[in-house]
Amino acid sequence: MSKIAVLGFGVVGSGVVEILGKHAGCIRLRQGDIPEVKYILDIRDFVGVNGNFIKEFSLIENDDEVSIVAETIGGIGAAYEFTKRAILSGKHVVTPNKELVAVHGAELLRLAKENGVKYLFEASVGGGIPIVRPMLRCLSANRITEISGIMNGTCNYILTRMENDSLGFDQALLEAQQKGYAEADPAADIEGKDTCRKICILASIALGKHVYPQNVQVTGIAGITLEVIKEARKKGYAVKLLGRVSCAESAVQASVEPYLVPRSHPFYMVSDVFNAVMVTGSATGEVMFFGRGAGKLPTASAVVADILECCEGDLPEENLFWTDSEGGRQPFGVPISVNKYTFDSGFELPILQTDQF
Ligand code: HSE
Repeated sequence: MSKIAVLGFGVVGSGVVEILGKHAGCIRLRQGDIPEVKYILDIRDFVGVNGNFIKEFSLIENDDEVSIVAETIGGIGAAYEFTKRAILSGKHVVTPNKELVAVHGAELLRLAKENGVKYLFEASVGGGIPIVRPMLRCLSANRITEISGIMNGTCNYILTRMENDSLGFDQALLEAQQKGYAEADPAADIEGKDTCRKICILASIALGKHVYPQNVQVTGIAGITLEVIKEARKKGYAVKLLGRVSCAESAVQASVEPYLVPRSHPFYMVSDVFNAVMVTGSATGEVMFFGRGAGKLPTASAVVADILECCEGDLPEENLFWTDSEGGRQPFGVPISVNKYTFDSGFELPILQTDQF
């Protein structure tokens, strides 16, 4: 039986433990055995919660029985250090940590390859939506030419509540926090940084080269008022925060910004915490992935799927790899050119093209 350690007992970490317990029946049917949570690492004390809680990472690092580490701490401080130490001590690491993957993905994938272990992060983009593995495996016969999507559940929840229920921005954000959708610091959601990290991960997969967040031009949703949303609606648009990358051979262009999405576009109907990612392949054309993009159990579901993949065998995931590159560090965040709509107030938003729909 594989033994795992869960780092961080927050929203997603506790969801991982919950799913491994509650879904044991269906996991056993498919896998034959259920990974056992040997340790839960957290600096906080949890009263009345069962589990082998520890505060010292070295216990995990030095325990040869633990073969898989689920890093659900988030951020790039302790999470980065523990991920490297886990990989160096021969353990597979799985994570929903988009910030760490977007900033240090090339290095950690290289380190995992050198140490013969897996570094998997299906949950880092789109929460419970399968996107990383389908891009790598099911679309592997394609050159990916464009990726665009609604990739932040918190922002989409806020915009939907404002549009449908005329809720104020702050109240809608509070609800998103209470539902466990927002980041520890929700500025990362609202300012578009979270979407930026996710589009960088998908772009790195598509290009095979690390695409760094600092090179992407990012605008968040702080400027979106109820008046903007109402005027947009009258004109037949929904306001959505989109991450986009266009992977033409000559140049890569990436951006994160709020768009006016016309009724004819599939993104128009994507509301609440739902995310949608549209990937354009050279053979498939547009393929859309849709589902809950944030929240405890959807995100934990993808983390547990990665844990189960690690249980299946020790062969590293050869396809899941991209190189670091100086090219990736060059600014290339030229906004994808689009038509703009000017609101009565003078505020402007780009309009998403819908030629193909
Ligand atoms: N804060 C993120 C979101 C969590 O709202 O989408 C999932 O990555």
